[in-house]
Amino acid sequence: MSIQKKIQPIQLGNLHFASNLIQAPLAGLSCAPFRELIAQFGGAAYCVTEMVSAKTLLGRPEKRYIYKSPNEGTLCFQLSGNNATELEEAALRAVSYGADLIDLNCGCPVNKIRKKNSGSKWLSISQELGQVIQGIKSKISPPLSVKIRVDGMSGDRFNTDVVKAINDAGADFIIVHGRHWSERYDTPARLDEIASIVEQSTIPVIGNGDVQDYTSLQKMFEATGCAGIMIGRASVGRPWLFEMLMAEDRGEKYAPPTTEQIVKLLLHHVRQLSYLENKERALLQARKFAKYYLPTDILPDISFLLSQNG
Ligand SMILES: Cc1cc2nc3c(=O)[nH]c(=O)nc-3n(C[C@H](O)[C@H](O)[C@H](O)COP(=O)(O)O)c2cc1C
Repeated sequence: MSIQKKIQPIQLGNLHFASNLIQAPLAGLSCAPFRELIAQFGGAAYCVTEMVSAKTLLGRPEKRYIYKSPNEGTLCFQLSGNNATELEEAALRAVSYGADLIDLNCGCPVNKIRKKNSGSKWLSISQELGQVIQGIKSKISPPLSVKIRVDGMSGDRFNTDVVKAINDAGADFIIVHGRHWSERYDTPARLDEIASIVEQSTIPVIGNGDVQDYTSLQKMFEATGCAGIMIGRASVGRPWLFEMLMAEDRGEKYAPPTTEQIVKLLLHHVRQLSYLENKERALLQARKFAKYYLPTDILPDISFLLSQNG
C-alpha cells in the first residue's frame, strides 16, 4: 500500500474523491442541514449520517435518518446492527434512499448498543464480523467501510484479528477512531495504534480522533501514515473547517467567516432544521448548535436574533 501523508485525492472502493478528508458521523447533529453546509463550503470528500440501526431503517425511520437533501454532496449511511440478514437488507434500503457509501458501525461504546451485540461489541467477535461484511458486500455495489476503535491499554488485543477479518472479508476501507471503546475524550487518540493498523492493512485506513486544525491534521498524517482523515467534533459550528484546511495545505491564508456571517449561517442551519424536524426538536437542536457556532460572550445576541427570525 502506498503511504499518503497529506491532503490529496483518494480512491475508496469504486469512488474517486478530490480530497481525503471526511466528515464523521455525529448522532443528533449530522443530519441533512448540517451536511448541506459542509458540502456548501467544500473540502470534505463526503459526510456520514448519524448511526441508524438496521431495524430502524427497515421499520418506519424518522425523516432525519433517511433524508438526503438535493443540496448536499456524497453521502454515506452508517448502519448498526447485530443481525447479518437485517444489515444486508438495511444496506440495500440505504442505497435506495440515496446512500453513495455504506459504513458499518463497530465503534459505538454505548452500553445499550453493546448489550445488543452491536457497535463496538463486534470488535470482540472478529470472525462473525468478517461474515457480516462479506454478506453486505455481496449485496451492494457502493463502497463499504467499517468504523472501528483501537484496543488501547485494555488487554483486549483485538486490533490484529479485527484488521485481518475486515481485510479478508472484502471491505473497501477502514476508519479508525484511536480510542478504546471504554475511553472518553479526556484520553488522547492513540496515534501509534492507528499507525500499527495502517501497517497491517492492505486496504486504505482513515485516521480519526482529535483533529481540529492544520497542526493536528499534519500530526495525524505524519504519526500514522493514514490514507485520509475523518473529522468529527471540530467542524460542528465550523462548516468551513475542511475548506480552511485545504487552503492552509496550499499555503494560503484563510479568512474564516465574520461573526455576522456566522450568525447568518446559524440561522440558515436552524431554518433548515425546522423543515426537517418538528419545531420543538429543531429548537432544542438550535440551542445545541448555537454554542458551537458562537463564542459564549455573544450568545445573548443570538437569542434575540433567533426570536426575530426563528
Ligand atoms: C455527539 C457525538 C455523536 C457521535 N455519534 C457517532 C455516531 O453516530 N457514529 C459513530 O461512528 N461515531 C459517532 N461519534 C464519534 C465520532 O464520529 C468520532 O469518531 C469521534 O468524535 C472522534 O473524532 P473527533 O475527535 O474528530 O471528534 C460521535 C461523537 C460525538 C461527539
